[in-house]
This record gives sequence, C-alpha cells and structure tokens, in this order.
Amino acid sequence: MSIKIKLAEKAKDVEKALNDYLVIREPKKLYEAMAHIPLAGGKRLRPVMAQLTCEMVGGESKKAIPFAASLEVIHNFTLVHDDVMDDDDLRHGVAACHTVFGLPTAILAGDSLFAYAFEMIAESNVDDKIKSELVRHTAYTVRRIAEGQQMDINFEEEETVDPELYLEMIRLKTSILFGSAAYGGALIGGKGIEEANELRQMAIWVGLGFQIWDDYLDATATAEVLGKPSGSDIRQGKRTLLVIEALDRTNNKERKELINILDDTNNTDNDVKRAVEIMSNCGALENCREQALEYLNGAKKTIEKYPENGARELLEELLEYMVTRGH
Ligand code: IPE
Ligand code: IPE
Ligand code: MG
Ligand code: MG
Ligand code: MG
Repeated sequence: MSIKIKLAEKAKDVEKALNDYLVIREPKKLYEAMAHIPLAGGKRLRPVMAQLTCEMVGGESKKAIPFAASLEVIHNFTLVHDDVMDDDDLRHGVAACHTVFGLPTAILAGDSLFAYAFEMIAESNVDDKIKSELVRHTAYTVRRIAEGQQMDINFEEEETVDPELYLEMIRLKTSILFGSAAYGGALIGGKGIEEANELRQMAIWVGLGFQIWDDYLDATATAEVLGKPSGSDIRQGKRTLLVIEALDRTNNKERKELINILDDTNNTDNDVKRAVEIMSNCGALENCREQALEYLNGAKKTIEKYPENGARELLEELLEYMVTRGH
C-alpha cells in the first residue's frame, strides 16, 4: 500500500471530525469560505503525526482526534492567510479562498478557523490539566508562526539572508506546528512534559526538512501535482534556501541575474525558468535536497528508541514522505 493511501486511511476519523465541524451556517458566505480550503484536500500530515505519536507512546489515538483536527484547522487558517500574503490563487487544487470569496471574507474565514480550533480542543475528552496545556501551547504556536511569516515577508526585501536566519524563519512558520502535533500527541498518549518535548524536537527537526523540500518542489514541480502554483516563491522574490545557496555559489553575472529576477515585480514565466536553471546549474538545488534529508535522519534517530510497533513504523514512513514526496 502506498504511503499516500496509508495516510488517507489513518486520517479518516479526522476527516469526519472536520466534516462535522465545518457545516454551513448563517451567514453562509462566511461558513462556505471557512470550509472551502480544508475540505478541498490536503495531506493531513499534522493530524496524522499527532495520532501516530500518541499511539507510539502507548496511548489511544481516538482520544487525540479532536486535537488532531484542531491542528488541521490551524494549518488551514494559516494557508488561507498565507495565500493572501503570497498573492497565490490556487490551493488544494481549487481557487484560493480570497480569490473565490474576496479579501474581507478570507480574513474572517481565517480568523474563525483559528477560533474554531480552540473550541475543538476545549471539547476534547482529555484531562483538564492536559487540555489547558494544549490550549496554551497552541496559542503560543500560532503567535510564533506569525513571527515566522513576518520574517519570511521581511526577507523579500533583503538581497540575501544568513542560512541560520532562514532556518529560524522556517522553524517558526512551519516546523513548530509539526512540533505541536508530536507534543500534543505525546501528552494525550500519557507522557510527561519532558518526553513530549523530546518528540516535539523530533518533529521540529523533520519540519525543517519538510519546508526546505516544499521550497524545492515550489521551484521544480507542476501546479497540477502541487495543487498550488509552481514558481510562486521566485515570482514573489522569496529568499528560500535554494536562493541563498545559489547566491552563495554563483559568479557575479549569474548572481546579479538571479537577484534581478527575484526583485522584478513583473517577472515572466521565462524568468522563473531561468532562475531555476541558475539554481540547478550551480548545485544549489541538489544541495538543498541533501540538507532536507539530513534533517530527516536527525528526526528518525529520536523515534528509534521507541518499541517497534505499527505506529512507529508508519510514523517513520510519514517522516520520510515529508522530505521526499514527489513530483
Ligand atoms: C503547506 O503544507 C504549507 C507549508 C508549511 C509548506 P502542506 O504541504 O502540509 O499542506 P497541505 O497538505 O496541502 O494541506
Ligand atoms: C507557508 O509557507 C507556511 C505557512 C502557511 C505558515 P509557504 O508559503 O511556502 O507555503 P505554501 O508553499 O504556500 O504552501
Ligand atoms: Mg508563505
Ligand atoms: Mg505560500
Ligand atoms: Mg511553499
């Protein structure tokens, strides 16, 4: 069975929870906008990570379903707003929320999804102590995501960025939500804060590889495969690791050419192609692929000490999928 099918199978309960929560109420336009992106698709990586972490540490993953669903709702809230910030019009294979419903409703849809996530956590059947920690931790995580998103936007104005700062930016905007998944999964599974934190670090580690790989796919895969626009990072002038590595490796002429393409607000499809060519020829693409795999190996080491059960096996496959998923 392919990992894609296994993930879909594992996410069935979360799928049901999302469908139950995201029913259409009045005012219809708001609720339709809220349901639009989460119900159009997505790999459900974060909920499945929470369920598998919970099971791997000996817990019952059914108990983690409301929290898992809340992660997916938070994730989708950030996607709705991210597409506004990145000026992207395709998500989960359908038109982006703001494209269909307009900017004001997309802002509200994101806000309400964010709020919904806390209702889900509050209604979950876990200990009060764990529940309050999940609420605190989720709120903290969303604030840190906003910091990362702001850094991402700030970097568009820089010529290049220190790789350490890029890593801090993706740790915040992307990794720590995976961290929350593993942390919450472990807590619900009965583990204490210390062990939950170790699993959080594991997920943060692979999340770095995941975002580097997402940047790689943005430059190299088609919109059909991605379900979101291809080449968007280059069009927007994002300082991804691909760009940072390429600026480090190219000669003056190509370096200048790449910066001009990134900074040109009217760059064309051919410009995007040329930027990818520069990043490929100097070895930046290949180097980023390797860096993503190194983060995977770091994460794998943490879970190796858990008993070899089905949950650990599938979690390992999930981690691999996060940094190798295809074109
Ligand atoms: C996309 O994440 C946003 C990033 C953090 C790069 P996913 O690839 O997990 O989004 P889905 O699966 O389309 O929802
Ligand atoms: C987005 O990173 C991270 C969040 C949504 C917080 P990207 O901007 O790379 O995500 P995609 O590529 O649009 O999915
Ligand atoms: Mg973005
Ligand atoms: Mg984006
Ligand atoms: Mg991206």
